Amino acid sequence: MCGIAGYIGHRPAVDVVMAGLRTLEYRGYDSTGVALAFAGKLAVRKRSGKLAVLRDSLAAEPLPPATTGIGHTRWATHGAPSEANAHPHTDATSSIAVIHNGIIENYLELRAELETRSFSMSSQTDSEVVAHLVVDEIQRSGVEVTEAVRRVCRVLRGSFALVVSSAADPEVLVAARRNSPLVIGLGDREHFVASDSAAFLAYTSRAVELADDQVAELRTDGLRVTDLAGAAVAVEAFELERDAASVEKGDYPYFMLKEIAEQPQAVADTLAGSLVDGRVSLPGLGLSEQCIRELTSVVVIACGSSYHAGLIAQQAIERWTDLPVHVEVASEFRYREPKLRSTTLVVAVSQSGESMDTLMALRHAQQAGATVVSICNTRGSSMARESHGVLYTEAGTEIGVAATKTFLTQVAAGYLLALHLAGVRGGQTTDGLIEVAEALADIPRAARQLLATVPQLRALAASLADRDAVLFLGRQLGYPVAMEGALKLKELAYLHAEAFAAGELKHGPIALIEDGLPVVVVMPSASQQPLLHEKMMSNIQEVRARGAVTVVIAEQGDESVDACADAVVRMPTTHFMLAPLLASIPLQILTCELALARGCDVDQPRNLAKSVTVE
Ligand code: F6R
Repeated sequence: MCGIAGYIGHRPAVDVVMAGLRTLEYRGYDSTGVALAFAGKLAVRKRSGKLAVLRDSLAAEPLPPATTGIGHTRWATHGAPSEANAHPHTDATSSIAVIHNGIIENYLELRAELETRSFSMSSQTDSEVVAHLVVDEIQRSGVEVTEAVRRVCRVLRGSFALVVSSAADPEVLVAARRNSPLVIGLGDREHFVASDSAAFLAYTSRAVELADDQVAELRTDGLRVTDLAGAAVAVEAFELERDAASVEKGDYPYFMLKEIAEQPQAVADTLAGSLVDGRVSLPGLGLSEQCIRELTSVVVIACGSSYHAGLIAQQAIERWTDLPVHVEVASEFRYREPKLRSTTLVVAVSQSGESMDTLMALRHAQQAGATVVSICNTRGSSMARESHGVLYTEAGTEIGVAATKTFLTQVAAGYLLALHLAGVRGGQTTDGLIEVAEALADIPRAARQLLATVPQLRALAASLADRDAVLFLGRQLGYPVAMEGALKLKELAYLHAEAFAAGELKHGPIALIEDGLPVVVVMPSASQQPLLHEKMMSNIQEVRARGAVTVVIAEQGDESVDACADAVVRMPTTHFMLAPLLASIPLQILTCELALARGCDVDQPRNLAKSVTVE
């Protein structure tokens, strides 16, 4: 959420910062800005709208050359997405420029206090106070900028990744963090700083991660990290993995289409190594067999699409083990005094590993003494670092703001976890777990076949593009798939979309059905779940009788649906427990095509950001 990029060295800073912001733009894109420090001055340019608006402005009217600069791409929290609220923020005399990710929770009191002393604010943001506070500290105490930032951080509450540039000292950039990621890139006589290392990976693969309440002073020739009291802290450099292909569109017009197409490989990569000869083993998970045998319950915490992946994992764990599983929206979790024990396994599901809601829920679980593992796509992320164990999904970088390949790999990882728990505990289930594991290994092949549904779904999308609402129905494992389909449609096509457990329809929502309303139905397997299938057939008839247009996702060979569906999308047959891995794909494609048909930006939908680092 929001992107930060900063540079100090020998290159034109504006080029490095703008290139960095380009790779981070998917994290927030309602306004952007840069500040360059040179010869005792700061040159600032801000624009509302996407990065292209700022880029055009800089091309038309370049800023003076400088080798120190900072830049920001914003997802608005406090204050509308306007030029005034865009970062960098400066004090009245433009002596200090600040970029900030996170939320300063005590900004109102800090702002009020500054205003009583004649500091005047020019934005509605929480971030601007930092610029004034730093200047105030320098003026009152005569300290240099790095010490001023340390002192200011001591009074800030909330979360922040900050980079501060000073007109008086263009030879230095100061970075600080608390609960918001910040990485420093180490180059040859140059340093980079960013909220995500992707921003400087084109220049260096050596990096240092700042920890909470650390402040870094970056110079062309040096890096000094201290705690907030100014005591030096030793930091360890590490090598970043280069994943350059992930951040380019290749032959695809949109990242979302590319990322949907990458799913078979991403699932295969996630399963690789853990699934051998029909058995699952997760040595990297970091949980001993004894610890697994002693578990008494599982709680899954997650947000959005990750929450839907958690709902699927719940059904798998409950079916294949004797453990009760509870799934909770992470933002609600810690506020209701959940009962946790050391024998409770808390599973945090998050592609970014940084969603603040999930991170806070994870910390709450840690403090309560639970055993915590995360299912995560980002190595080195806060959740990965703070969990007892991590199960990594191998989706690579996902640039499209809507989760596709990260969601599907989370679902695959959830199955791995469920099979692993079952294997260690000796699962009591009617499913042959070796058979399930073998079917899981076959999913990438079956998923590849589904990519061929694009032309059918494109035509279908064109016929539905003018509708105002779409309903989704599912039962059992099809229900979270339907929920995920509805979420995708809301966020990408800006359509009212709602998912229902099909049996609930008659308890109220059926009143919504009217002539021409599209209803997407995720069918259970006809061959393996005949009872559930029969019930769903009745639900289809109920909505059709009231004028709905039905789009049915059904397994190959299920001809019974043909007579009651306006459109049928076929998916390969698999073990019914694994069907979400296949049924989700046509829903993603349908959403993508529907959003494109409605003229929406599928990679950067309005009001959203990729990694939501505020609560
Ligand atoms: C929807 C989507 C979001 C995320 C949610 C959690 O397409 O991407 O709903 O799933 O913000 O994000 P992570 O998984 O990073 O915690």
